[in-house]
Amino acid sequence: MKPEAEKPAHIAFIMDGNGRWASQRGLPRVMGHRQGLKAIRAVVEAAREYEIPFITLYSFSSENWKRPRSEVQFLFSLMRERLKREAAELHRHQVRVKFIGFRPALPDSLQRIMKEVETLTEKNTGLTLTFAINYGGRQEILEAVQKILKEGRPAGGLTEATFRCYLQSSFLPDPDIIVRTAGEQRLSNFLIWQASYAEFYFTEKLWPDFDQKDFLAVLKEYRRRRRKFGGL
Ligand code: IPE
Ligand code: IPE
Ligand code: MG
Repeated sequence: MKPEAEKPAHIAFIMDGNGRWASQRGLPRVMGHRQGLKAIRAVVEAAREYEIPFITLYSFSSENWKRPRSEVQFLFSLMRERLKREAAELHRHQVRVKFIGFRPALPDSLQRIMKEVETLTEKNTGLTLTFAINYGGRQEILEAVQKILKEGRPAGGLTEATFRCYLQSSFLPDPDIIVRTAGEQRLSNFLIWQASYAEFYFTEKLWPDFDQKDFLAVLKEYRRRRRKFGGL
């Protein structure tokens, strides 16, 4: 379909608009989250089909705790049930599942299944599918700085390349393109270090409506972009 160089290696998604999708239908917000799973499925399938090596999904931000407790709990149990249900199939398709974000604050039952799925799929060589759960970009950077200070590294020797090794997401290449659905045009604390040269793609589509065609539209748009990284 396209030369390798014009295909993104890492697409990161800010899955937004679940609540609006539900409200528009007179449904409770949580129904939008449930429907959002369909879009995740579509994206994972498309990524496998087009051989995109890395997909990252912003699933719960460190700021999403401000939401009503009932919605937060619903989201965590949805994640837990789905991970349990999908683990075998993801594994069968050689998907390597990873998580970034601050785990200790999550319910034990969710932490357990996250660990299980990660261990089950860690040797897989297909798509790396990363869920950002209780993730905040500033928190990730802060944790990296704390680790560096604890090690007592000399300040002079610290380069961008060594710094990134301390980030929780160090196993990920920088995102080539960040997609945000539902019309909002902001990062909301997502991958702020890694996004420094990312392309941005904003669509009015609400996340639950995002499908394979939309995924293809992202690939097509990416091909059109001229990335210069400060050069000519
Ligand atoms: C994104 O949809 C899902 C999460 C942030 C967990 P929202 O729940 O933010 O949907 P809107 O923005 O209220 O429509
Ligand atoms: C960003 O969406 C977080 C996730 C998609 C998980 P939000 O809906 O929480 O972001 P804001 O509040 O509109 O910036
Ligand atoms: Mg939102």
